Amino acid sequence: MAHQDPLINQDIHAYIQRHQNKGLLRFITCGSVDDGKSTLIGRLLYDSKMLFDDQLQTLQADSKKIGTQGDQLDFALLVDGLAAEREQGITIDVAYRFFSTEKRQFIVADTPGHEQYTRNMVTGASTADAAIVLVDARKGLLTQTRRHTYLLSLVGIRHVALAINKMDLVGYDEERFLTIAREYASFAQRLGITDVSALPLSGLLGDNILSPSPHTPWYRGPTLMGWLETVPVDVDRTERPARFAVQWVNRPHDGFRGYAGTLGSGVLAVGDRVRIQPSGRESHVAGIHTADGSLQQAVAGQAITLLLQDEVDISRGDVLVRADAPASVANQFMANLVWMTDEPMFPGRHYLLHSGTQTVNATVTRIKHQVQVDTLDELAADRLDLNAVAQVNVSTERPLVFDPYAQSPETGAFILIDRISHQTVGAGMIVHELRRAQNIQPQHFVIGKSERALLNGQKPRVVWLTGLSGSGKSTIANELEKLLYAQGARTYILDGDNLRHGLNKDLGFTEQDRIENIRRVGEVAHLMVDAGMVVITTFISPFRADREAVRGLFDPGEFIEVHVQTPLAICEARDPKGLYQKARAGKITNFTGIDSPYEAPESAELVIDTTATTDPVDCARLIQTYLKSHP
Ligand code: ADX
Repeated sequence: MAHQDPLINQDIHAYIQRHQNKGLLRFITCGSVDDGKSTLIGRLLYDSKMLFDDQLQTLQADSKKIGTQGDQLDFALLVDGLAAEREQGITIDVAYRFFSTEKRQFIVADTPGHEQYTRNMVTGASTADAAIVLVDARKGLLTQTRRHTYLLSLVGIRHVALAINKMDLVGYDEERFLTIAREYASFAQRLGITDVSALPLSGLLGDNILSPSPHTPWYRGPTLMGWLETVPVDVDRTERPARFAVQWVNRPHDGFRGYAGTLGSGVLAVGDRVRIQPSGRESHVAGIHTADGSLQQAVAGQAITLLLQDEVDISRGDVLVRADAPASVANQFMANLVWMTDEPMFPGRHYLLHSGTQTVNATVTRIKHQVQVDTLDELAADRLDLNAVAQVNVSTERPLVFDPYAQSPETGAFILIDRISHQTVGAGMIVHELRRAQNIQPQHFVIGKSERALLNGQKPRVVWLTGLSGSGKSTIANELEKLLYAQGARTYILDGDNLRHGLNKDLGFTEQDRIENIRRVGEVAHLMVDAGMVVITTFISPFRADREAVRGLFDPGEFIEVHVQTPLAICEARDPKGLYQKARAGKITNFTGIDSPYEAPESAELVIDTTATTDPVDCARLIQTYLKSHP
């Protein structure tokens, strides 16, 4: 270390002891380079005396060479140097730095403020206890200050230091300081952030960073370091109800069955009555194992293997809780959702939802309102674009085990993942379950799909034809139905144009309307397959994600995707309804293939190249052959 603690030489054990017993504060810094963020963090790192010799030497050399501060150290280089490392390496959007003082250890999350700021902030802030929000004293609050503060409130940060920086450039003016502080406090209060400390600083000159500045005699509050060392760290996770998400089931041999995972919150002890959610079955804790031996009691944060008294069916994704303090189990809930990707979010589109060790299919059923995060206005929205924040209703295919985020961030947070690209596209915080979910329960009837299939003497399934308008889907469907009918099959065709005259007459051709069109058709086809029918559908169904979502409704082998592959030029030359001509003339917009995309299937069960098989009857026979060979 560059500046060593003398205790290291005097009594190394005492030194280690002292540092081990210090509390840990995780905090996040929000603001941009222009606000002086790098300089401020650099100074904290430097003043904490936790820099290595080589880092210090590099800083001294770089300050001379490329620094902007004359003979002085340029603290910004310390952070920017790390940023450069970050750019070269594989590392990600949020940089975590560690430092420590006599009183506390710190982990600071530094989030670059580029256009993906919501992703970075939510990532960085979700594990933080406190935040430093930086503003430039000359500029005051900016739109981004308000946006950042809104996101802080969403992820549940309760303690904020408003670092009013560059006070030297406004002559250490108390009035200026108070005006900014007051304006910020009233904004933060509307968001439920009540613990705000405003500090007059100069990161560059060190005013009120480590020691009170002689330039601000009117200021009686803490220094920045003083604030960091004393800001309360919120309640201990062990004080919350016990939540144990099962990561995997450990069965090394018959007779031993343990459930491995990390205790997310609370305490679990041998003998406790536990409930397995979502199933609701109950048992007692028979044993708790760790890598270091058995325990009578485990606390939040420990990696454990649990043994239960009874043989119960448990798998990854189940959550074990104490029976007297269960979590919510529901398939519909309201949440705050932050959208993090360029591809917009449309209600009705299917995503994978991850929460803890649970993964389920999910859709946003409704955007209640989007929040204009700088004014806090609530706006109507039918889609969410990059960085949008909204309150939404979410529906999951299977019940999810969760708690409201405000009560338990571990079990109240989720992310949404794109089913095709596997990218994280959204982050959510659950507000509460929807009561309607509690009041609607699936009914089970004695006669089911297999009984009806037996009576019909066929395997119920859906032949899903997809392709451009004019590709020949309806013609082929017609021929296929004739062949199947002759064979005695019970069939039904769901046709795009036909359904748009009835069930879907409220829908047009925007992306969100097509998503809803295909969602409804998928549900209808699913019901008809359950009724024992062979269903043929003829929809352009241009989006891969939506076809995959429909596939997800069915059992393996029931969804047969058939790509009717006809080149655009041929469809356009045929133009059976004269629509391509209208689209080219600009009289119809969003026409597939012209000004709206068609995403061809990547792994369809069958591809019919209509330039090779030109007779629709032959095309239908190809499908019939496929069905026969996949009984
Ligand atoms: S889908 O994209 O939502 O699957 P769907 O198959 O229901 O579309 O309807 C497509 C049919 O609607 C086309 O065959 C065509 O006859 C008609 N149509 C009218 N306007 C459009 C448009 N803008 N894009 C595509 N098809 C359109």
